[in-house]
Amino acid sequence: MDRSLAVIVLAAGSGTRMKSVLPKVLHKVAGVPMISHVLAAAEALKPAKIVGVVAPWQDAVAAAFAPHATAVQARPRGTGHAVMAALPALGDFAGDVLVMFGDTPLVTPHSLRRLLKARRAAGPARAPGKRGHALAAMGFRSADPRPYGRFVLDGKALVRIVETRDASAAERRIDLCNAGVMAIDGAALPGLLSRLANRNAKREYYLTDLVTIAVGEGRRCTWAEGEEAEFLGINTRAELAAAEAAMQARLRVRAMEAGVTLRDPSTVWLSADTRFGRDVVIGPSVVFGPGVRVGDGVEILGFCYLEGADIGREAIVGPFARMRPTTRLGARAHVGNFVELKNTNLRQGAKANHHAYLGDGDIGPRTNIGAGTIFVNYDGYAKWQTKIGADAFIGSNASLLAPLEIGDRVYVPAGSVISNPVPADAVAFGRARQVDKPGMAPGLRRKLQARAAARSKR
Ligand code: UD1
Ligand code: MG
Repeated sequence: MDRSLAVIVLAAGSGTRMKSVLPKVLHKVAGVPMISHVLAAAEALKPAKIVGVVAPWQDAVAAAFAPHATAVQARPRGTGHAVMAALPALGDFAGDVLVMFGDTPLVTPHSLRRLLKARRAAGPARAPGKRGHALAAMGFRSADPRPYGRFVLDGKALVRIVETRDASAAERRIDLCNAGVMAIDGAALPGLLSRLANRNAKREYYLTDLVTIAVGEGRRCTWAEGEEAEFLGINTRAELAAAEAAMQARLRVRAMEAGVTLRDPSTVWLSADTRFGRDVVIGPSVVFGPGVRVGDGVEILGFCYLEGADIGREAIVGPFARMRPTTRLGARAHVGNFVELKNTNLRQGAKANHHAYLGDGDIGPRTNIGAGTIFVNYDGYAKWQTKIGADAFIGSNASLLAPLEIGDRVYVPAGSVISNPVPADAVAFGRARQVDKPGMAPGLRRKLQARAAARSKR
């Protein structure tokens, strides 16, 4: 644990530019709320404390911060005001305070560490008794800096951060942008905050004004430079889409580096928590929702959609298969096209290769599920389980009415509707018997032809 570090994550803004009833930081990136990405980066630093700042009506945001503490900012009066709201939760903490924004999900622990190092490095004109710089802010260069505050430098020192709408024409030409992450000397923080004013275009208390205040007191401020792609701030739906694209690109590279073959990487969608074993092969246009784990040597063919699924080693899935939570495939299981599984365990070596719905099921090892099989798990009120033993054979187009238990090595011929338990080694039919009428086809054909001819004369 880093006892000299506390992190404040701001998430109390109104997020008006999203035009959404959902708080901005709960919009998802790679399958999880954007705030989870920010928290994961903060947690990687092992700080003594993480405090989230939330709005009073945002219980869902506070819940997303759990188990970390939250402070409430009564009204969104600016990023500086939000940090003031967090101060009581820090108590007499006097180490470094890292302020992060909840709307910047691509941030990495690596950059946060670099920023802390810059803050702690002794400034050239150090005031007596003061450790390091008053603060260090993270910046990046952008070809389109319009959405961001700009760094005004004096030589290498940071002397001011100015928001676009408060900037002069010359300042608007600056391409060095404020990323929104700031490492501040915690001992100086309360004093600096107490001097904040809201004389600006938005009538807000800007955190960025701490720079001018510190410089006015004779302390130095510094900055570190990062990549624009890492500090994309999400204020609009278009920026949300851009962040999603950047996160997907990052996750794909990470998967390939870990030994996964992506046949057409740009079409594969991953979640932040997707986990792959070695030598996995993924076809084009596969979507991984949250909670998917893929074992070694698995092949997932094109156009599959998976969420909440655990896929055992060397299983083959797809093309066009769907797995819903909570699905488990045993080793070397096969799931083919247009098969949907939900809350079902298809055990090792079992197969469901064509057109089936398998909901709330437990299917024994090496059992074969025929084309068109339906687990009838829902009676309109409740969901029921279908359990099938090992080495069974379920013929095509069977309807298995749950709750139902079918024993080991049972054989169910095609087209059966099975509603009673079947003991091991039985053959269980459940369909109308076939009736044969020898020689009757020619007569039937003549009758139908005559009827068609009469109709065409009318
Ligand atoms: C802010 C920065 C800007 C920077 C940009 C980077 C300021 C004044 N501006 O602008 O320099 O380039 O981020 O993305 O700091 N929040 C609160 N309470 C408030 C206001 C905001 O908690 O009263 C939170 C928001 O929920 C958000 C974060 O602070 O997570 C940033 O607020 P936002 O309104 O998005 O600031 P920007 O205009 O993007
Ligand atoms: Mg923002």
